[in-house]
Amino acid sequence: MSEPSARFAVTLDGEEVMVSSGQTIAAALIASGRTAWRTTRVDQRPRGVFCGIGVCFDCLVTLNGQRSVRACLVTAAPGDDIRSEGGPGGADGAD
Ligand code: FES
Repeated sequence: MSEPSARFAVTLDGEEVMVSSGQTIAAALIASGRTAWRTTRVDQRPRGVFCGIGVCFDCLVTLNGQRSVRACLVTAAPGDDIRSEGGPGGADGAD
């Protein structure tokens, strides 16, 4: 019988999100009901996961102070501080 996965907390823009061990940041955000956590520089259109394999850069977040991290490629760790990016004059510079 398999063990239940360990769960721990991270934060997205200061709000606690529970994560199962082994989940990527993107998977954790989707599991918490979020479908978008970034906006485009032009028109502030919502973005979340599009490709899910590190190609499109739609899922960018600031992770523990490091900007423009692809949420679909990074496994979440306890206490991660995740910040959304984008909008007018956004920190990421992506569209
Ligand atoms: S969803 Fe495309 S790079 Fe992450």
